[in-house]
Parts: sequence; C-alpha cells; structure tokens
Amino acid sequence: MTIQWFPGHMTKARRQIEDKLKLIDIVIELLDARVPLSSRNPMVDEILKGKPRMVLLNKYDLADSQLTAEWVRYFAEQGLKALPIDAATGTNVKEILPRAKELWAHKIEAQLRKGVNPRAVRALIVGIPNVGKSTLINQLAGKKIAATGDRPGVTKGQQWIKVGTEMDLLDTPGILWPKFEDQMVGLRLAATGAIKEELLHMDEIAFFVIKYMVKHYGAALQERFGIAELPEDLDDPNEVVKVMEAVGRKRGAIVSGGKVDLDKASLIIIRDLRAGKLGRITLEVPGEL
Ligand code: G4P
Repeated sequence: MTIQWFPGHMTKARRQIEDKLKLIDIVIELLDARVPLSSRNPMVDEILKGKPRMVLLNKYDLADSQLTAEWVRYFAEQGLKALPIDAATGTNVKEILPRAKELWAHKIEAQLRKGVNPRAVRALIVGIPNVGKSTLINQLAGKKIAATGDRPGVTKGQQWIKVGTEMDLLDTPGILWPKFEDQMVGLRLAATGAIKEELLHMDEIAFFVIKYMVKHYGAALQERFGIAELPEDLDDPNEVVKVMEAVGRKRGAIVSGGKVDLDKASLIIIRDLRAGKLGRITLEVPGEL
C-alpha cells in the first residue's frame, strides 16, 4: 500500500522511528535494489542518529546483478555494508543475522568481558512504503505476522519477533518517506511501483522507462516486443513515442481506426517492467546520477 506524504505525516513518522530507536541496538535499512538511491529517505542519516546500520538491497531478483554489485561497492565506500536480498523467496536472508551480530560485536564482547551473558541483538527494519519491509519481517519470523497498515499514524504495542536466539526484531517497521521532490526520483519510484500511479501519468512513466531501456537494455527491449530497430536520437521525443507505439501494435493495444492506444501500451510496458518480464533491470547507475 502506498501513501501520500505531507509534512505532518513526515513529522509523525520521524517521531515514531525515534521512539523505536530507543528500544533497539541496530538498524536494518531496506532499499530497492533497482533504485537504491531513489528508494532512500533523504534524511536517513540524520534520523537514525548514528545507530549501527546495515543496508539491504531488496528485490534483487528483479535487479541487474552487475549493477547491484556496483551499488554494493558504492555503499562500501560510504562505510556501509550492503547485502542484496530477495525477501520474497528468502535469498540471502540467512546472511542478515551474522551481519547484525558483527555490527553489535563490540557490545557482545564487552558483556562477555564483564562476565555477563550477552543478550540478543535488537533490530529495527526501516524503509519507504512497498520496499518489502513486511515481506522481510515475515521471512525472518518464519511465519506471517499480522500487517499493521502502512501508515505513519497507525500504531500498536511493540512486539518482539525472535530470529533464532541471537536476534530480536521489532514486529513493526519504521516507515520512511522517499525523496520525491526530484522529478527523476518520482519517475523511478513510479516505474518500480513504489509510489501511487495516480500521481503521475502512465504515459509519462512509460516514456521514461522506454528511454532508459533503449539506452541501457536495448536488446532486452527488442527481444520482448519484437522491435527491429531502436531510435538513435533519444533527445527526440517522437522517436521514443514510436517505440511505445511499436509495443502497442505488437501487443494489440489498438483503438478503432487502427491507431495505437498509448495509455494501454504504457500500462503494458510498466507492468512488464515491474514483473521482471523485460529482464533484470536496475534504473539507477552509480556515477551516472
Ligand atoms: P512494505 O511492507 O515495505 O510496504 O512492502 P511489502 O512487504 O508489503 O512488499 C511490497 C511488495 O513487494 C509485495 O508485493 C511483495 O510481495 C513484494 N516484494 C517484497 N520483497 C520482494 C522481493 O525480494 N522480490 C520481489 N520480486 N518482490 C518482493 P505485492 O503484495 O504483490 O504488492 P504489489 O506488488 O501489488 O505492490
């Protein structure tokens, strides 16, 4: 579920995270591997106030593995260990616990030195709506935890989920807002399904997707939609629209008179992208932003 963010929502969300931060040792920051920076809250460093943190690049199954490796390097340069995961199937989810213990190792060692039995590390998952927070919580819990509503105003008593004996996880994640003031960020988030479609026009999103695909994944685009030739001049909007029309023709999105229904073609392009039918696509390249 997606929500529209207003300043009041942001303040409330931030307060809720600050309350949770008092209870936990480490933060698990969940990003979308296809759009790692666009799916990141612009104030995350300030909000998390130096809590030990790991980054997870979720929906790795839908992202370009080579670019994901580049993003892992990008975060490493910033002192953050990033792990690609697929929360839906559980790929790499087993790696989270050892990384959590590593982040908290200094405290565990200090407790051992004092002769105290170390307690389980307490963790909180944070991320923007739709990034996969509930899916990951359920995967870590090994069962379905009741959804609480993806709204900054919805609260309930905090409960801990045991992840083995060595990690306790708060059952409600911290919900952050994306950096949607930037039009390109908005397009990337809309393309991946992180923000409400109604906020943007489908044809605008599909136009962005096609332009990006021609530049970075031309062969995949040609193969999926049987397009013989791709445009060379991507600065000419008519050339991009021609590709959208070719998709429409190929998939039968035709209105009376034989014209292509661009809205329908746009929907096909966006649905195919989100479902991974165009291949594994990453919409942000480190260094190109
Ligand atoms: P949230 O709590 O952060 O808001 O996200 P949630 O877990 O509800 O996940 C949002 C959607 O993303 C869900 O799809 C979920 O299945 C999907 N998802 C989560 N992790 C992964 C992953 O690693 N790979 C893939 N491919 N999908 C993942 P949904 O219920 O169908 O919702 P929607 O797609 O209709 O929005």
